[in-house]
Amino acid sequence: MSLFGNKQPQMLGLDISSTCVKLLEISKNKGKYRIDSYAVEPLPANAVVEKTIQGEEGVEAAGEAVKRAVKRSGSKTKLACLAVPSSAAITKEISMPADLTEDQIEAQIQLEAEQYIPYPADEVYMDFLVLGPNAKNPETVDVLIAASRDENVGARTGAVRPAGLTPKEVGVEAYAIEDAFKLLSHQVPDYGVDKTVAIVDIGATMTSLNVLHDGKLAYTREQPFGGKQLTEEIMRRYGLSFEDAGRVKKEGGLPENYEPEVLTPFKETMSQQVGRFLQFYYSATEQEHVDHIILAGGCANIPNIADIVEHNLGITTSIADPFAHVEIDKRVAQNRLMNDATALLIACGLALRSVDE
Ligand SMILES: Nc1ncnc2c1ncn2[C@@H]1O[C@H](COP(=O)(O)OP(=O)(O)OP(=O)(O)O)[C@@H](O)[C@H]1O
Ligand SMILES: [Mg+2]
Repeated sequence: MSLFGNKQPQMLGLDISSTCVKLLEISKNKGKYRIDSYAVEPLPANAVVEKTIQGEEGVEAAGEAVKRAVKRSGSKTKLACLAVPSSAAITKEISMPADLTEDQIEAQIQLEAEQYIPYPADEVYMDFLVLGPNAKNPETVDVLIAASRDENVGARTGAVRPAGLTPKEVGVEAYAIEDAFKLLSHQVPDYGVDKTVAIVDIGATMTSLNVLHDGKLAYTREQPFGGKQLTEEIMRRYGLSFEDAGRVKKEGGLPENYEPEVLTPFKETMSQQVGRFLQFYYSATEQEHVDHIILAGGCANIPNIADIVEHNLGITTSIADPFAHVEIDKRVAQNRLMNDATALLIACGLALRSVDE
């Protein structure tokens, strides 16, 4: 297994999120990406809380959902690529002598691990990626180290094995989103070349900001905020169950006061959250501007949200549209795929590991 990996055989991208398991398989044919299989299967409440799989029961429930997803997708692919949340991973860039082989780099990192990673070495899962020559000192190469506690990785790999899958790679969510940018660059000025793009993934319980400069991840941060807050408000106001509230939120059918009294304030809160996240980025990096915002995650489906963010923050904003230029296999339920598109960036990035070097 590896946290980064190079060119790989065909793999399923599997995002085990707070609400569901998202499965996606992508191949590339004559320069064009193709969605070969896709499925989303819901998870029981509390199996995964804020992206952490909850104990043995959580692993079992996630395992059942993975099994159902594989079955529904119809895929025969047996290798999977997973991700740990960015907040459960530590990454660090170091430099090493350029004349070392990969094996020597690995040995050196193992030896010096404690220097970089504040966990005991026997409790940590670690990987590295050679980024290339150091810009200032060509005798060294920049190496990116990523590490996560064994328990984070173990809960995820434990959830895919019962479905007969072999976890081939475990990535970090922010890097999966960076990889998924290949499917988003069409919606960004100059395809993102020399531009700073903020991808804000607003899920059910967590929001992540991923700032890419020139297509490369420059900053990431994640915090609890998501659509569950809106669902809970709908439950309170209208006396609905969690399931019903979640459904009417997407399909409509709520009383007239829903829009002005519940939805509009939530949209304002969402927009404020995006603004706050950008402030974190500005103050952490001393950068002052972002060229474009891409809204992702299920909450990006809320009507007019891009206009509101754009208007409030004064930055052009669009909704993640990863499947605009891809082929879609006949077996794939195209409507569902398109409805879920904004929430599939992590799965996209993981699935793309099969096809990209
Ligand atoms: N059309 C829609 N209108 C409003 N909200 C929606 C719509 N579609 C999805 N959502 C909301 O998006 C959220 C799910 O988004 P997503 O699939 O990105 O979350 P997740 O990845 O499972 O969660 P997390 O990232 O927190 O682990 C839910 O709160 C859902 O109600
Ligand atoms: Mg998510």
